[in-house]
Amino acid sequence: MRHFLTLKDFTKEEILEIINIGLEIKKNLKSKIYNKELQNQTLGMIFEKSSTRTRVSFETGMFQLGGHALFLSNRDIHLGRGEPVKDTARVISSMCDMVMIRTFEHSMIEEFARYSSVPVINGLTDSYHPVQLLADYMTLVEHGASKNIVAAYVGDGNNMTHSWMMLAAKLGFKLRIATPKGYEVDTDILNEALEIAKSSGAIITTTNDPKEAVKGATVVTTDTWTSMGQEEEKEERIKIFSGFMVDGEMMSLAQKDAQFLHCLPAYRGLEVSEEVFEKHSAIIFNEAENRLHAQKGLMAWLDKQRSVGK
Ligand code: CP
Ligand code: NVA
Repeated sequence: MRHFLTLKDFTKEEILEIINIGLEIKKNLKSKIYNKELQNQTLGMIFEKSSTRTRVSFETGMFQLGGHALFLSNRDIHLGRGEPVKDTARVISSMCDMVMIRTFEHSMIEEFARYSSVPVINGLTDSYHPVQLLADYMTLVEHGASKNIVAAYVGDGNNMTHSWMMLAAKLGFKLRIATPKGYEVDTDILNEALEIAKSSGAIITTTNDPKEAVKGATVVTTDTWTSMGQEEEKEERIKIFSGFMVDGEMMSLAQKDAQFLHCLPAYRGLEVSEEVFEKHSAIIFNEAENRLHAQKGLMAWLDKQRSVGK
Protein backbone atom coordinates (compact mmCIF):
# COMPACT_ATOMS: atom_id res chain seq x y z
CA MET A 1 0.00 0.00 0.00
CA ARG A 2 1.33 3.43 -0.94
CA HIS A 3 0.47 6.92 0.33
CA PHE A 4 0.84 10.07 -1.78
CA LEU A 5 2.31 12.62 0.61
CA THR A 6 5.08 14.18 -1.50
CA LEU A 7 6.60 13.52 -4.93
CA LYS A 8 9.83 12.70 -3.07
CA ASP A 9 8.54 9.17 -2.44
CA PHE A 10 7.84 8.47 -6.14
CA THR A 11 10.11 7.54 -9.02
CA LYS A 12 10.05 9.39 -12.32
CA GLU A 13 8.44 6.32 -13.92
CA GLU A 14 5.69 6.22 -11.28
CA ILE A 15 4.92 9.94 -11.67
CA LEU A 16 4.68 9.56 -15.45
CA GLU A 17 2.57 6.40 -15.11
CA ILE A 18 0.06 8.20 -12.86
CA ILE A 19 -0.15 11.10 -15.33
CA ASN A 20 -0.60 8.71 -18.26
CA ILE A 21 -3.44 6.90 -16.49
CA GLY A 22 -5.03 10.32 -15.87
CA LEU A 23 -4.64 11.26 -19.54
CA GLU A 24 -6.23 7.98 -20.63
CA ILE A 25 -9.15 8.48 -18.23
CA LYS A 26 -9.54 12.06 -19.52
CA LYS A 27 -9.63 10.85 -23.13
CA ASN A 28 -12.22 8.21 -22.23
CA LEU A 29 -14.37 10.68 -20.31
CA LYS A 30 -14.42 13.04 -23.31
CA SER A 31 -15.63 10.09 -25.45
CA LYS A 32 -18.25 9.25 -22.80
CA ILE A 33 -16.43 6.07 -21.77
CA TYR A 34 -16.58 5.87 -18.00
CA ASN A 35 -13.86 4.16 -16.02
CA LYS A 36 -15.35 2.71 -12.84
CA GLU A 37 -12.15 1.47 -11.20
CA LEU A 38 -13.23 2.55 -7.72
CA GLN A 39 -16.76 1.16 -7.73
CA ASN A 40 -18.28 0.96 -4.23
CA GLN A 41 -15.23 2.64 -2.67
CA THR A 42 -15.35 5.73 -0.48
CA LEU A 43 -12.87 8.58 -0.19
CA GLY A 44 -12.83 10.50 3.11
CA MET A 45 -11.79 14.11 2.50
CA ILE A 46 -10.60 16.02 5.57
CA PHE A 47 -10.38 19.76 5.03
CA GLU A 48 -8.74 21.99 7.64
CA LYS A 49 -8.37 24.79 5.06
CA SER A 50 -10.63 26.21 2.32
CA SER A 51 -10.74 24.80 -1.19
CA THR A 52 -12.55 25.12 -4.49
CA ARG A 53 -10.57 22.97 -6.93
CA THR A 54 -9.35 20.26 -4.56
CA ARG A 55 -12.78 19.55 -3.14
CA VAL A 56 -14.64 19.65 -6.46
CA SER A 57 -12.03 17.57 -8.31
CA PHE A 58 -11.71 14.83 -5.69
CA GLU A 59 -15.45 14.61 -5.06
CA THR A 60 -16.34 14.59 -8.76
CA GLY A 61 -13.43 12.30 -9.59
CA MET A 62 -14.46 9.72 -7.01
CA PHE A 63 -18.06 9.80 -8.25
CA GLN A 64 -16.95 9.36 -11.86
CA LEU A 65 -14.79 6.37 -10.85
CA GLY A 66 -17.87 4.71 -9.39
CA GLY A 67 -17.23 5.60 -5.76
CA HIS A 68 -18.38 8.14 -3.23
CA ALA A 69 -16.59 10.98 -1.43
CA LEU A 70 -17.29 12.34 2.05
CA PHE A 71 -16.52 16.00 2.75
CA LEU A 72 -15.26 16.21 6.34
CA SER A 73 -14.58 19.74 7.53
CA ASN A 74 -12.58 19.96 10.74
CA ARG A 75 -15.34 22.23 12.00
CA ASP A 76 -17.70 19.26 11.86
CA ILE A 77 -15.58 16.29 12.91
CA HIS A 78 -14.00 15.68 16.31
CA LEU A 79 -10.48 16.23 14.95
CA GLY A 80 -11.21 19.97 15.20
CA ARG A 81 -12.21 19.52 18.85
CA GLY A 82 -9.02 17.73 19.83
CA GLU A 83 -9.61 14.05 19.01
CA PRO A 84 -6.06 12.77 18.38
CA VAL A 85 -4.93 12.45 14.75
CA LYS A 86 -3.94 8.83 15.31
CA ASP A 87 -7.44 7.94 16.57
CA THR A 88 -9.15 9.79 13.73
CA ALA A 89 -6.87 7.96 11.29
CA ARG A 90 -7.69 4.54 12.68
CA VAL A 91 -11.45 5.22 12.68
CA ILE A 92 -11.78 6.82 9.25
CA SER A 93 -9.48 4.30 7.57
CA SER A 94 -11.49 1.45 9.05
CA MET A 95 -14.52 2.66 7.08
CA CYS A 96 -13.15 4.45 4.00
CA ASP A 97 -11.00 3.04 1.20
CA MET A 98 -8.83 6.14 0.74
CA VAL A 99 -8.36 9.42 2.57
CA MET A 100 -7.43 12.86 1.24
CA ILE A 101 -6.28 15.51 3.69
CA ARG A 102 -5.75 19.27 3.40
CA THR A 103 -4.10 20.60 6.51
CA PHE A 104 -1.47 22.92 7.99
CA GLU A 105 1.59 21.07 9.31
CA HIS A 106 2.97 18.36 7.06
CA SER A 107 3.71 16.26 10.16
CA MET A 108 -0.05 15.90 10.74
CA ILE A 109 -0.55 14.08 7.44
CA GLU A 110 2.54 11.93 8.11
CA GLU A 111 1.13 10.92 11.47
CA PHE A 112 -2.28 10.21 9.92
CA ALA A 113 -0.63 8.02 7.26
CA ARG A 114 1.32 6.10 9.92
CA TYR A 115 -1.93 5.07 11.58
CA SER A 116 -4.07 4.70 8.45
CA SER A 117 -4.86 1.28 7.04
CA VAL A 118 -5.71 2.83 3.63
CA PRO A 119 -3.82 5.13 1.21
CA VAL A 120 -3.57 8.78 2.28
CA ILE A 121 -3.35 11.58 -0.30
CA ASN A 122 -1.91 15.01 0.43
CA GLY A 123 -4.41 17.63 -0.76
CA LEU A 124 -2.05 20.44 0.40
CA THR A 125 -0.05 21.05 3.54
CA ASP A 126 2.02 24.09 4.52
CA SER A 127 5.01 22.30 2.96
CA TYR A 128 3.75 20.59 -0.22
CA HIS A 129 0.96 20.51 -2.80
CA PRO A 130 1.89 17.43 -4.86
CA VAL A 131 -1.48 16.72 -6.52
CA GLN A 132 -1.31 20.19 -8.11
CA LEU A 133 2.01 19.31 -9.73
CA LEU A 134 0.54 16.15 -11.27
CA ALA A 135 -2.03 18.39 -12.98
CA ASP A 136 0.61 20.97 -13.91
CA TYR A 137 2.86 18.44 -15.59
CA MET A 138 -0.11 16.78 -17.33
CA THR A 139 -0.99 20.23 -18.70
CA LEU A 140 2.54 20.78 -20.01
CA VAL A 141 2.40 17.37 -21.72
CA GLU A 142 -0.90 18.27 -23.39
CA HIS A 143 0.39 21.65 -24.55
CA GLY A 144 3.56 20.12 -26.03
CA ALA A 145 5.68 21.94 -23.45
CA SER A 146 7.11 19.04 -21.43
CA LYS A 147 10.36 18.64 -23.36
CA ASN A 148 13.54 20.48 -22.28
CA ILE A 149 11.68 22.44 -19.62
CA VAL A 150 13.33 25.54 -18.20
CA ALA A 151 10.83 26.54 -15.51
CA ALA A 152 10.87 29.80 -13.59
CA TYR A 153 8.96 30.11 -10.32
CA VAL A 154 8.54 33.72 -9.19
CA GLY A 155 7.14 34.58 -5.77
CA ASP A 156 6.85 33.12 -2.31
CA GLY A 157 8.97 30.12 -1.31
CA ASN A 158 6.00 27.99 -0.28
CA ASN A 159 4.24 24.63 -0.65
CA MET A 160 3.91 25.12 -4.43
CA THR A 161 7.59 25.99 -4.80
CA HIS A 162 8.63 22.95 -2.79
CA SER A 163 6.48 20.71 -4.99
CA TRP A 164 7.94 22.26 -8.16
CA MET A 165 11.39 21.52 -6.72
CA MET A 166 10.50 17.86 -6.17
CA LEU A 167 8.96 17.52 -9.65
CA ALA A 168 12.04 19.06 -11.28
CA ALA A 169 14.35 16.91 -9.16
CA LYS A 170 12.51 13.71 -10.08
CA LEU A 171 11.93 14.41 -13.77
CA GLY A 172 15.30 16.09 -14.34
CA PHE A 173 14.44 19.52 -15.69
CA LYS A 174 15.76 23.02 -15.01
CA LEU A 175 13.99 25.08 -12.36
CA ARG A 176 14.95 28.60 -11.34
CA ILE A 177 13.29 30.00 -8.25
CA ALA A 178 13.10 33.73 -7.50
CA THR A 179 11.82 34.84 -4.11
CA PRO A 180 12.27 38.03 -2.11
CA LYS A 181 14.92 37.95 0.62
CA GLY A 182 13.49 36.33 3.73
CA TYR A 183 10.85 34.39 1.75
CA GLU A 184 13.16 31.74 0.32
CA VAL A 185 12.29 28.07 0.12
CA ASP A 186 12.86 25.74 3.06
CA THR A 187 16.58 24.89 3.19
CA ASP A 188 16.08 21.24 4.18
CA ILE A 189 13.64 20.64 1.33
CA LEU A 190 15.98 22.42 -1.10
CA ASN A 191 18.87 20.23 0.00
CA GLU A 192 16.76 17.10 -0.42
CA ALA A 193 15.74 18.22 -3.92
CA LEU A 194 19.37 18.99 -4.82
CA GLU A 195 20.40 15.54 -3.63
CA ILE A 196 17.72 13.87 -5.81
CA ALA A 197 18.69 16.15 -8.70
CA LYS A 198 22.20 14.66 -8.72
CA SER A 199 20.85 11.44 -10.22
CA SER A 200 18.20 12.93 -12.53
CA GLY A 201 20.30 15.74 -14.01
CA ALA A 202 17.90 18.43 -12.79
CA ILE A 203 19.35 21.88 -12.27
CA ILE A 204 17.61 23.80 -9.50
CA THR A 205 18.80 27.30 -8.69
CA THR A 206 17.57 30.06 -6.38
CA THR A 207 17.88 33.83 -6.63
CA ASN A 208 16.30 37.01 -5.29
CA ASP A 209 16.12 38.45 -8.82
CA PRO A 210 12.93 37.48 -10.71
CA LYS A 211 14.31 38.73 -14.05
CA GLU A 212 17.33 36.45 -13.74
CA ALA A 213 15.00 33.49 -13.15
CA VAL A 214 12.60 34.24 -16.01
CA LYS A 215 15.23 34.98 -18.67
CA GLY A 216 14.90 32.34 -21.41
CA ALA A 217 12.36 30.25 -19.45
CA THR A 218 9.97 27.96 -21.33
CA VAL A 219 7.48 27.87 -18.44
CA VAL A 220 6.82 30.66 -15.96
CA THR A 221 4.75 30.09 -12.85
CA THR A 222 3.79 31.81 -9.63
CA ASP A 223 1.41 31.47 -6.69
CA THR A 224 -0.29 33.72 -4.19
CA TRP A 225 2.02 35.80 -2.01
CA THR A 226 -0.19 35.07 1.00
CA SER A 227 -0.97 31.40 1.53
CA MET A 228 -3.77 30.05 3.66
CA GLY A 229 -2.87 30.61 7.30
CA GLN A 230 -0.78 33.75 6.55
CA GLU A 231 -3.70 36.17 6.17
CA GLU A 232 -2.43 38.47 8.94
CA GLU A 233 0.81 39.08 7.00
CA LYS A 234 -0.98 40.08 3.80
CA GLU A 235 -0.35 43.85 3.84
CA GLU A 236 3.32 43.44 4.78
CA ARG A 237 3.81 40.79 2.10
CA ILE A 238 2.27 42.99 -0.60
CA LYS A 239 4.94 45.62 0.16
CA ILE A 240 7.83 43.15 0.30
CA PHE A 241 6.82 41.28 -2.87
CA SER A 242 6.52 44.38 -5.06
CA GLY A 243 8.72 43.74 -8.11
CA PHE A 244 7.73 40.07 -8.14
CA MET A 245 4.52 40.44 -10.17
CA VAL A 246 4.58 38.39 -13.38
CA ASP A 247 3.53 41.03 -15.90
CA GLY A 248 4.01 41.51 -19.63
CA GLU A 249 7.46 43.00 -19.16
CA MET A 250 8.59 40.05 -17.06
CA MET A 251 7.10 37.53 -19.53
CA SER A 252 8.93 39.27 -22.39
CA LEU A 253 12.20 38.00 -20.87
CA ALA A 254 11.06 34.39 -21.20
CA GLN A 255 11.07 32.43 -24.48
CA LYS A 256 8.66 33.87 -27.06
CA ASP A 257 6.23 30.95 -26.79
CA ALA A 258 6.69 30.43 -23.03
CA GLN A 259 3.73 29.01 -21.13
CA PHE A 260 2.39 30.55 -17.94
CA LEU A 261 0.88 28.35 -15.23
CA HIS A 262 -0.98 29.29 -12.05
CA CYS A 263 -2.45 26.79 -9.57
CA LEU A 264 -5.23 29.26 -8.67
CA PRO A 265 -6.75 31.10 -6.91
CA ALA A 266 -5.00 34.02 -8.65
CA TYR A 267 -4.77 37.56 -7.34
CA ARG A 268 -4.52 39.94 -10.28
CA GLY A 269 -2.41 43.01 -9.70
CA LEU A 270 -0.37 41.12 -7.09
CA GLU A 271 1.51 37.97 -8.18
CA VAL A 272 0.23 38.22 -11.78
CA SER A 273 -1.06 41.03 -13.96
CA GLU A 274 -4.54 40.87 -15.45
CA GLU A 275 -2.95 41.00 -18.93
CA VAL A 276 -0.68 37.96 -18.41
CA PHE A 277 -3.44 36.01 -16.68
CA GLU A 278 -5.98 36.56 -19.45
CA LYS A 279 -3.45 35.97 -22.23
CA HIS A 280 -2.70 32.53 -20.75
CA SER A 281 -6.18 31.77 -19.43
CA ALA A 282 -6.73 28.77 -21.78
CA ILE A 283 -3.79 26.83 -20.34
CA ILE A 284 -4.51 28.01 -16.77
CA PHE A 285 -8.08 26.70 -16.83
CA ASN A 286 -6.99 23.47 -18.51
CA GLU A 287 -4.48 23.16 -15.66
CA ALA A 288 -7.37 23.59 -13.19
CA GLU A 289 -9.53 21.02 -15.01
CA ASN A 290 -6.61 18.61 -15.07
CA ARG A 291 -6.79 18.39 -11.28
CA LEU A 292 -9.82 16.16 -11.89
CA HIS A 293 -8.14 13.89 -14.43
CA ALA A 294 -4.72 13.69 -12.76
CA GLN A 295 -6.25 12.83 -9.38
CA LYS A 296 -8.47 10.17 -10.93
CA GLY A 297 -5.26 8.71 -12.36
CA LEU A 298 -3.68 8.90 -8.92
CA MET A 299 -6.59 7.24 -7.10
CA ALA A 300 -6.80 4.45 -9.70
CA TRP A 301 -3.02 3.96 -9.43
CA LEU A 302 -3.04 3.84 -5.62
CA ASP A 303 -5.87 1.33 -5.70
CA LYS A 304 -3.95 -0.83 -8.19
CA GLN A 305 -0.84 -0.78 -5.97
CA ARG A 306 -2.94 -1.97 -3.06
CA SER A 307 -4.52 -4.78 -5.06
CA VAL A 308 -1.16 -6.08 -6.27
CA GLY A 309 0.04 -5.90 -2.67
CA LYS A 310 2.87 -3.37 -3.15
N1 CP B 1 -5.09 24.99 -6.54
C1 CP B 1 -5.83 24.56 -5.52
O1 CP B 1 -5.47 23.65 -4.77
O2 CP B 1 -7.04 25.18 -5.40
P1 CP B 1 -8.04 25.08 -4.17
O3 CP B 1 -7.38 25.75 -2.99
O4 CP B 1 -9.26 25.81 -4.63
O5 CP B 1 -8.33 23.65 -3.86
N1 NVA C 1 0.23 28.43 -1.57
C1 NVA C 1 -1.22 28.44 -1.61
C2 NVA C 1 -1.72 27.43 -2.59
C3 NVA C 1 -3.21 27.43 -2.77
C4 NVA C 1 -3.69 26.38 -3.71
C5 NVA C 1 -1.76 28.16 -0.22
O1 NVA C 1 -1.21 27.31 0.48
O2 NVA C 1 -2.70 28.85 0.19
